[in-house]
Amino acid sequence: MKFFIDSADVEEIKSLVPTGFVDGVTTNPTLIAQSGRRFEEVIAEICALVPGPVSAEVAALDLEGMLREGRYLAKIASNVTIKVPLTIAGLKACRTLTDEGTLVNVTLCFSAAQALLAAKAGATFISPFIGRLDDVGEIGMNLIHQIVDIYKNYPNLTTQVLAASIRSPLHVIESALAGADVATLPPKTLRQLYQHPLTDKGIDIFLADWKKTGQSIG
Ligand code: G3P
Repeated sequence: MKFFIDSADVEEIKSLVPTGFVDGVTTNPTLIAQSGRRFEEVIAEICALVPGPVSAEVAALDLEGMLREGRYLAKIASNVTIKVPLTIAGLKACRTLTDEGTLVNVTLCFSAAQALLAAKAGATFISPFIGRLDDVGEIGMNLIHQIVDIYKNYPNLTTQVLAASIRSPLHVIESALAGADVATLPPKTLRQLYQHPLTDKGIDIFLADWKKTGQSIG
């Protein structure tokens, strides 16, 4: 499973790259607004830090606007992945941009039917939003299972399932169990993946016992 970082905070991404677990980055208009910085600059800096796919979302809702913005953003770097919403215009833009050789991430997916359409439109990634489904009382993870199962039935569909709107380590574990290709994680969630109180407790015990030996290594 690949891990993307769901953030537009360049410093935060920079601090996570050395972990070796950053396979790509996803941004969205909310994250860009939170960064308080110019969109193109942020994307260019992230693309220079991370060789994997970096999602940049169009703001236009009409096909022509999406294509114009998508082509403009795609010129920033070869790893820019254009994020389009799951609408009729978004899927048309997906087909055109994919045919032009651009990576496309179809976002705001909330049903398996939508995911099937995105795959047929040639999306590189489909982004089902787990947390936002949980927020409205549905079980977001069921959607990941459904999409993975459907795509498996049609090996000619090459779209990768990118579990998005992840809010906890449990979402990551369950996405991996379901067979999602990618999980995009808020920086905090990536850091949480390392943590277990028994790991910390075990280190304390081993260190205390090691001191008793009076030895040093090397
Ligand atoms: O980038 C899309 C996504 O991961 C959003 O997450 O927590 O705002 O629902 P969230």
